[in-house]
Amino acid sequence: MVERILVTGGAGFLGSALVTRLVGLGHEVIVLDNGYRGSISRLNSIFSRIEYLEGDIRDKETVINAAAGCDTIFHLAFINGTKYFYEKPELVLDVGLKGALNSLEAAEKHKVGTYILASSSEVYQQPENIPTSENERAIIPNVLNPRFSYAGGKLISELLTLNYLRNKNIREIIFRPHNIFGPNMGNEHVIPEIVSKLRIASEKWSLKHAEIEIQGSGEETRAFCFIEDAIDQLVALYDKGSKGEIYHIGIDKEITIKSLIKEIARILDIDVSCRQTTLKSGGTTRRCPDISKIRSLGYIKEDNFLQGLKTTVSWYKSAL
Ligand SMILES: NC(=O)c1ccc[n+]([C@@H]2O[C@H](COP(=O)([O-])OP(=O)(O)OC[C@H]3O[C@@H](n4cnc5c(N)ncnc54)[C@H](O)[C@@H]3O)[C@@H](O)[C@H]2O)c1
Repeated sequence: MVERILVTGGAGFLGSALVTRLVGLGHEVIVLDNGYRGSISRLNSIFSRIEYLEGDIRDKETVINAAAGCDTIFHLAFINGTKYFYEKPELVLDVGLKGALNSLEAAEKHKVGTYILASSSEVYQQPENIPTSENERAIIPNVLNPRFSYAGGKLISELLTLNYLRNKNIREIIFRPHNIFGPNMGNEHVIPEIVSKLRIASEKWSLKHAEIEIQGSGEETRAFCFIEDAIDQLVALYDKGSKGEIYHIGIDKEITIKSLIKEIARILDIDVSCRQTTLKSGGTTRRCPDISKIRSLGYIKEDNFLQGLKTTVSWYKSAL
C-alpha cells in the first residue's frame, strides 16, 4: 500500500538512503531537515519526486505541519558525529529532546499509523554481552562526561516514544543502528578518518608505506554494516515490526580496528603500520549486535561488508 511518509533528518546519510528506497517502493515522501549535517545533494536523483521542507525539528509548528496527512513518521533528525557529543552537548540534547517531543506530538495529532525512532547502539556504552541483544541493559556511566549527551538524548527519546504511545493506536518501533557505513557518510566516522590519515601519511598516495596514529590499541572492535544492508533491514522493520519493540540494525561480524585498517590499506594498495594513542574517555572497546530479532522479520540477505568497504574507500579516495 502506498503511504505518505515523513522522514525527519532525511538529508542525512541514513535518511537520504532510506528516502531513496521509500520513493523507489512508490511511497510519497516528505523530508524535514535543517541542513545542519545533511545535504540536499544526497537527494539529487529523486529530488523532483519528494517534498523537501527545510526546517528545524525543534520548532513544533514546523513539525506538526510537515506531518499533516502522513501515515508514517521516521524520526531520524539528531546531532550525530562524536566530535559534537564532546563539543556541543547542549545542542545534542536540545535537538534530541525537542525533536522527540515535537515528532511524537505530530504523530498523535495526525493519528499516524506508525512512528519509527532512530536510537543508537551508544545506549549500551560498554555492553556486558557480545553479541549484544536488544535486552542488554542501557546505561549512562557518567553524567559529567559530555560524550553521554548523545546516548542520554537517545535514551530519553526511547522512553518518551514507548511511554507516550504505549496505549495509543500507533505502532511505535525503535531501531538501534550499529556502525552503518557507505559513500558520502560524512567525514567524522572511523572509515573516512582512516582513509584521510592514509592519504596524508602516503603523501597523497605517492608512497607505498604509511604509518598512522590510531586512538586506542587497535584491538577495539566494531561490526560494520553497509548502508544497503541497513536499508533492507529498515524496510523489513517498517513492513513487519511490532508495536513497542526495539530492533538492532547491523551485521553480526566483529572486526578489530587494526584489521579494518589493514583491509582499507589493502584496498588502497598501501602497506600500513599503526602508532597507538590512548582511547578517548567514554570510548567503547567492543561492539557487535545480535541481529536475530531483525532476521526473524524475514531479513536473510548476505552481508556486503567487503564489497561495501571497497565502494566506500574508493568514494573517499576520490572525494578527499
Ligand atoms: N549512521 C550510523 O551508523 C548511526 C548509528 C547509530 C544511530 N544513528 C542514528 O540514525 C539517525 C541518522 O543517522 P545519520 O548517520 O544519517 O546521521 P546524519 O547526521 O547524517 O543525519 C542526521 C540528519 O539530521 C539533521 N538534523 C540535525 N539537527 C536537526 C534539526 N534541529 N532539525 C532538523 N534536522 C536536523 C541533519 O542535518 C542530518 O541531515 C540519527 O538519529 C543517528 O543518531 C546512526
